[in-house]
Amino acid sequence: MSNEDLRNIILKKGNLPRHIAIIMDGNGRWARKRGLPRIAGHRAGVKTVKRIVEAAGELKLSFLTLFTFSTDNWQRPKEEVSAIMNLLYETTKRELIELEKNNVKLIATGIIDELSPKRREILKKAIERTKRNTGLVLNLALNYSGRSEILNAVKKISRDVSAGLVTSEEIDEDLFSSYLYSKGLPDPDFLIRTSGEMRISNFMLWQTSYTELYVTEVLWPDFSVEDFYQAIWAFQNRQRRFGKI
Ligand code: IPE
Ligand code: IPE
Ligand code: MG
Repeated sequence: MSNEDLRNIILKKGNLPRHIAIIMDGNGRWARKRGLPRIAGHRAGVKTVKRIVEAAGELKLSFLTLFTFSTDNWQRPKEEVSAIMNLLYETTKRELIELEKNNVKLIATGIIDELSPKRREILKKAIERTKRNTGLVLNLALNYSGRSEILNAVKKISRDVSAGLVTSEEIDEDLFSSYLYSKGLPDPDFLIRTSGEMRISNFMLWQTSYTELYVTEVLWPDFSVEDFYQAIWAFQNRQRRFGKI
């Protein structure tokens, strides 16, 4: 079956996830299997990002979050970290026109201010230049971790409570969510993790309370549009219960 046929089946079925989040894992293993340096895997992973963003746009998906770099990833060898950061810089710079053309709105969640000035600037420029786009919202979870996001929210709320801007009684789930980096984004309906690990790795801990999980053995650089459609098809055939019967 062609990708176009698959896409039509999915669109006909309806019930598409509104927000898909992806833990893009397996770049290093992909490279090792080929006797290549890990960075070659990250480079190949960027190509996958491009095709999945395109596919998400074609499906008219509303939100796509990509776990791009975790705060825990700083603990990798210096060379790998700077290679990933350079790749981020080059890709954002190169793809900006494409994002604008495809009506993609780029946003980022995480501690962006800890990136080097050059990388921060290109990212801010891309966010600024695409902010009026009305198509897919592409959220890069960058220098992100779920626990630090929650702690950051707790600190900000405590400050606002001390300043008398909110009372502790007012703190409910909606208010708390509005203090997270993901403010304004709906919770992901669907979380895909590539390369087989059955763990959440500090990703969107608050937001995934009722997210449907999907783990595939396929390594991120090999993840095809067909794999993406198959994952979505699996989601469309799940029964979500949210604790009810
Ligand atoms: C995911 O691939 C990319 C990042 C974490 C930046 P990995 O680099 O974690 O690849 P594996 O898990 O070592 O195969
Ligand atoms: C999660 O993958 C982070 C990203 C995909 C950016 P990791 O490869 O860092 O997670 P662990 O180490 O397998 O838990
Ligand atoms: Mg990994």
